[in-house]
Amino acid sequence: MKRCRIKKAIIPAAGLGTRFLPATIAQPKEMLVVVDKPVIQYVVEEAVAAGITEILIITGRSKRAVEDHFDPPFELENLLEAKGKTELLQEVRQIANLAKIQFTRQRRQLGLADAIYQGKSFVGADSFVVLLGDTIIDSNGCDPCLSEMIEIFNETDKSVVATEYVQNPADVSRYGIIDPGENKSQKTSAGVKYLDVHDLVEKPAAARAPSRLAVASRYLFAPAIFGYIERTKPGKGGEIQITDSMRMLAKKEGLYAYEINGQRYDIGNKIDYIKTNIDFALKNPETGQAIRSHLESILNQAG
Ligand code: G1P
Repeated sequence: MKRCRIKKAIIPAAGLGTRFLPATIAQPKEMLVVVDKPVIQYVVEEAVAAGITEILIITGRSKRAVEDHFDPPFELENLLEAKGKTELLQEVRQIANLAKIQFTRQRRQLGLADAIYQGKSFVGADSFVVLLGDTIIDSNGCDPCLSEMIEIFNETDKSVVATEYVQNPADVSRYGIIDPGENKSQKTSAGVKYLDVHDLVEKPAAARAPSRLAVASRYLFAPAIFGYIERTKPGKGGEIQITDSMRMLAKKEGLYAYEINGQRYDIGNKIDYIKTNIDFALKNPETGQAIRSHLESILNQAG
C-alpha cells in the first residue's frame, strides 16, 4: 500500500456565530472558553496530536483575537518569568510552538466550501485535513478520529469524511447527511471501519434524509476537492456548500465515511456550549471535584 503522511490542516473559523449572539458580536465564537482554553486551541491540539505540523486558520473580520491567541506577547512571558510562574509560562509558550500556524481571511461569507477554498495554495499538491473551528472532538480514550481517518486514507488513497449517527431524527436537518446506498462497511488492516459514500445531501428535511449518518466536522481531502469546489453552485441557504462539492468528489473519485468514536462538541450554540463546559469541567482534575459537588447540590435542592 502507498504510504502518504498528512501534514497539513485547514481550520475554517470565519463564521459569524449568529447562533450565539450577542456573545459573538466582538468575540469570535472560536475564542469562547471551555474551562480554561478557547475552543480553537482544543481544535489545533487535536490536529497536532494526529501528526499535523502546518495549519492554516481561515478567519474573517473581527477574528483578530484568534491570531493573537497563537502569538502570545513577549511582555506576558517576561512577566510570568519575573514572577517565577514557571508552569503558566510553559503553558503560554507551548501555544506558540504547537505547529506552524498561518492565517488567511475569507473576505465574503460565501459558504464553507469557499472558506476551505482559501487554503488552495497553502495545500498545493498535498492531501489535507479540515477541522471545523467551532467543534471539539474528544476521543474519550478511544483512538483519535483524525488518526483513524488518516489510516483509512493511507490504505485506500481516497478522501474520508467523519460522520456521527444522529440519535434524534428531528436533528438530521441540522447536518449534511450521507447516503450510503447499498454499500456495506469495510475495514482497514488494523480494523478501522469505513463505508463507501454513494451520495450526500446538505441539511435535508427529516422525512427526506437518506440516513441518520451526519457529516461531523472533520474531513480529509485529496487536493482534487478544489476543482469540485470551483464547480459548486450556491446551494442550501444560498451558500457554497462543501457537502455539494463532496457529492461530485464521491461520484467521480470516491469518498469514504468514517463513524467517529468519542464525543463531538459543537460549541456554536448556547445549549451545547454549556454542556461542553460542564463535561470538560467534570473531567478536569483542577475543577472536577468542585463542579461535581456544585451540580449535586443544585440537583438535590431541585429534587
Ligand atoms: C456544517 C456543514 C454540515 C455539517 C455540520 C457539522 O454545518 O455544512 O454539512 O454536518 O457543519 O459538521 P453548520 O454547522 O456550519 O451549519
